[in-house]
Amino acid sequence: MKKADKIYFGGDYNPDQWDEQTIDEDMKLFKRAGVNLAVLPVFSWAKLEPLEGEYHFEWLDQLIDKIWSHGISVCLATPTTAQPAWLSKKYPEVLPVDIAGRKRTHGMRVFFCVNSLKYRERAAAIADEMAKRYAHHPALAAWHVSNEYGTSCYCPTCQAKFRLWLKKRYGTIENLNKMWHTSFWGRTVYEFDEIMLPTELNDDYRFNPVIQLDYMRFLTDSTAECFENEASVLRKYNPEIPVMTNMSGYIRKLDQRVMADHLDMVGWDNYPAPTDPPYFVAMKHEIMRGLRHGQSYWLTEQSPNQQNWQPYNKLKRPGEVRRLSYQAIAHGADTCLFFQMRQSAAGQEQFHGAFINHGGHGNTRIFREMTALGEELASLKDKVLEGRIQAKAAILFDWNNWWALELSSGPSQDMDYLKLISKYYQAFQEQNLPVDIIRMDEELEKYDLVVAPLLHMMKENIGERITGFVEKGGTFVATMRSGIADEENRCIFGDYPGPLNKVLGIRVEETDALRPEERNMMELREAFGMREKSYACDFLCDLIYPEKAETLAVYGQDFYKGIACLTRNTFGKGKAYYIGTNPSEEFLKEWVGNLCADCGIMALYEAAEGVEITNRVSQKADVVFVINHNQEKAWVDFKEETLLDLLHQSEVSGKVSIESGDVLVLERK
Ligand code: GLA
Ligand code: ZN
Repeated sequence: MKKADKIYFGGDYNPDQWDEQTIDEDMKLFKRAGVNLAVLPVFSWAKLEPLEGEYHFEWLDQLIDKIWSHGISVCLATPTTAQPAWLSKKYPEVLPVDIAGRKRTHGMRVFFCVNSLKYRERAAAIADEMAKRYAHHPALAAWHVSNEYGTSCYCPTCQAKFRLWLKKRYGTIENLNKMWHTSFWGRTVYEFDEIMLPTELNDDYRFNPVIQLDYMRFLTDSTAECFENEASVLRKYNPEIPVMTNMSGYIRKLDQRVMADHLDMVGWDNYPAPTDPPYFVAMKHEIMRGLRHGQSYWLTEQSPNQQNWQPYNKLKRPGEVRRLSYQAIAHGADTCLFFQMRQSAAGQEQFHGAFINHGGHGNTRIFREMTALGEELASLKDKVLEGRIQAKAAILFDWNNWWALELSSGPSQDMDYLKLISKYYQAFQEQNLPVDIIRMDEELEKYDLVVAPLLHMMKENIGERITGFVEKGGTFVATMRSGIADEENRCIFGDYPGPLNKVLGIRVEETDALRPEERNMMELREAFGMREKSYACDFLCDLIYPEKAETLAVYGQDFYKGIACLTRNTFGKGKAYYIGTNPSEEFLKEWVGNLCADCGIMALYEAAEGVEITNRVSQKADVVFVINHNQEKAWVDFKEETLLDLLHQSEVSGKVSIESGDVLVLERK
């Protein structure tokens, strides 16, 4: 596989909009800013194939040659995210039908049915044309298929394919009825052609989570197939060029784990809201890194300045782009790419930030910041590439579980899996305790500590695997709403937490849902010396009856005052904890800190609050990133260790101060 020898820096270039002279100016500015990669032609299908089967690639040939003559590589995108008008007009089947049953018309990008055979035929054809021309072009660094997949469709083609997909999954209609538990509410189906897609036209189905769940799995599989339809064509011409797509930062809709299995590397677009705290952004990087078992990934997009689609589009503060860029690299990104290189004159994104703004020159704050960043990244050469984070703690995260939790009617309408995962993650991240976010099929034995918040859906033998992991000496943490259902979201008979109750040594009988303004208390008896303190908790309260486990804390209020809310079970050589509620941030921070200490997991260096530290290790180097997210100066203490400051080519050791928003990139010896 072709590998990069530097951090790619640059981004989406949409030259369909520009004349020759503008493009020439861009080349000069790109060079000045240290741009070494352009992503194109993401939206150019209409220009490349103005009539069915009639291709016009000459302009792109020239453009790629021009870019390459400036020493800039390209990541070539198949332009299939924006089908041309003729395609929608001639073959209306390519247009999607929405959840309300409305047939949509042409006009938008990412607006096609992923199951349309005509769409796939034309998409594969243009991918073939591109691959034929460019698969061996020296400028080509990677293929980028389409753009931010994620269109749901409920058209007749999808309806028919859904039934086939179900037939493949369940075999017979009897088995489907059993797995869907259709005997409740008399929803029995006799033939596959009686199964309807879950739309607003039959909204009783919306209350049966398993149909929704299967639809989301089906949509993911269909999208992955749609990706493969083009990827396989690209690979055929040159298997050495890595193929990916850019996943949307809004990641709930498609099971990105399934998508990731089809990619040579993960690519994702990072657009934090101005109000997102640093840990929330870091968590998304962690999720993306975990998709391919810790392999480094491409940061395919971020905004050089404000966006246009937030409700209030704050300017990126001075230094903010640099800080976000290094945060991405610190968590496993090997590239630093942006949307977009030149701000468009009109259209939906005319006010979206860009490398080069409407002024058209380099004399702007953002361009200067970009230039400085480009220079710094170039100085790092290939030092950080492919470096891996070495975490001994992991948080389990799963899309099917996410959907099932949130599709479930009860116990609370406020179920927000990502937010709850982020609370646990925050407790690690804000103490710089290295943690991976892992897939459900990840090998647990790689870790000393595994935390599985809200593990509602038991699949892939996870119960047995966790039991084995603890037996051999691992430490495991489960929370409220665990061990409830199987892969079809059918409750597992026997006490909660189902397949986990042996390892946890408890029985959960009931779960209370608290209103947003309500609190209960966790009265701690003993845990890592956090004695006799009480901490607030909210949201859900599992009533735990320990069987083998010890009670570490009990509820302080309500009729279940005195009933266990936190337990520990010693099992084999390991320990398994259960937190039956949603504890306060304060509790989690202290508790996770102590839990890690108990497992021998520590922060690499001591630092002031708000200073983020990670390190990436490869054969080449062990590189430490220190990021000060505070508004004021802070510190980090390297004690006796001496490290090489890669950005300033000087040595550091002892207690070092770091300016507000600043970043240190250091090589360990
Ligand atoms: C997405 C798309 C880009 C662009 C940006 C704007 O990530 O992939 O084409 O629209 O959003 O923020
Ligand atoms: Zn469809």
